[in-house]
Amino acid sequence: MNLNKKRIIITGGTSGVGYELVKQLAANNHIIVIARNSTLLNQLFQTFANVTTYQADLSRLDEVEKVAKRLVEKGQPIDVLINNAAVQNTPTFLDKDFEYAYIAPEITLNFTSICCLSSLLLPVLQHDDKAVILNVNSGLGLAPKRASAVYCATKGALNIFSQSLRYQLEDTNISVQQAFLGLVDTAMTHGRGQNKMTPHDAAAAIIDGIQREIPDHDIGKVPWLRLLLRLAPATARKILKKY
Ligand SMILES: NC(=O)c1ccc[n+]([C@@H]2O[C@H](COP(=O)([O-])OP(=O)(O)OC[C@H]3O[C@@H](n4cnc5c(N)ncnc54)[C@H](OP(=O)(O)O)[C@@H]3O)[C@@H](O)[C@H]2O)c1
Repeated sequence: MNLNKKRIIITGGTSGVGYELVKQLAANNHIIVIARNSTLLNQLFQTFANVTTYQADLSRLDEVEKVAKRLVEKGQPIDVLINNAAVQNTPTFLDKDFEYAYIAPEITLNFTSICCLSSLLLPVLQHDDKAVILNVNSGLGLAPKRASAVYCATKGALNIFSQSLRYQLEDTNISVQQAFLGLVDTAMTHGRGQNKMTPHDAAAAIIDGIQREIPDHDIGKVPWLRLLLRLAPATARKILKKY
């Protein structure tokens, strides 16, 4: 898909990879950003001529439904839905700072809200031109690390969901694509990890994958992870277990 003069929804466009996607796509497209931080949403609206913003907490299903309803009521076709917003809670289940209360919202934001938006926004995604649902995934959706068990599980579920939804929609105008990112230098990975990609490069690679219509696009170190999982799965899992 040629990303020019498209209407593109980006969840979590206020920081990190999402913000870079907004920056790189706003010059030639109309961008609709959904996130929570009203100050940052307002800054986006002031900075970019082609950006509309919607405030919603996507870890709450009532807010997911409300924002989707507003977008459907507008009746304007959507060409690309980029499901980018996510959180990663790193403490292990045995850590003192593990928060039981964070489990359900993390699953809702990272996984359930994406299933719900994909369903609720079908009326504006189905039209005569091509449309794309692009789910931002992670190498951790292919194999888990030790920390962030819930995050890894949501990304694994997102991988399976994306493949199944792709089958369901194959005779429609909508393609389902995934971008599997390696480590990126954002707030999510602040203070941990090395040799991280810049958010700029991660966003540029995601855009390139949409334009080249790559169904499952491995970015950064993910091609190496996928290869290792095929050639030496026990070694790959041993490495990831350390983190
Ligand atoms: N960073 C990495 O190393 C890495 C690696 C692999 C995959 N990824 C994936 O890349 C994507 C972007 O991550 P990132 O690193 O750019 O993260 P980030 O910098 O922490 O940004 C997360 C974005 O999600 C939004 N968000 C968080 N909670 C939300 C909620 N409850 N409702 C609505 N929006 C919410 C935030 O906006 P508000 O605070 O304004 O709501 C923010 O814009 C995620 O899907 C992540 O899993 C990242």
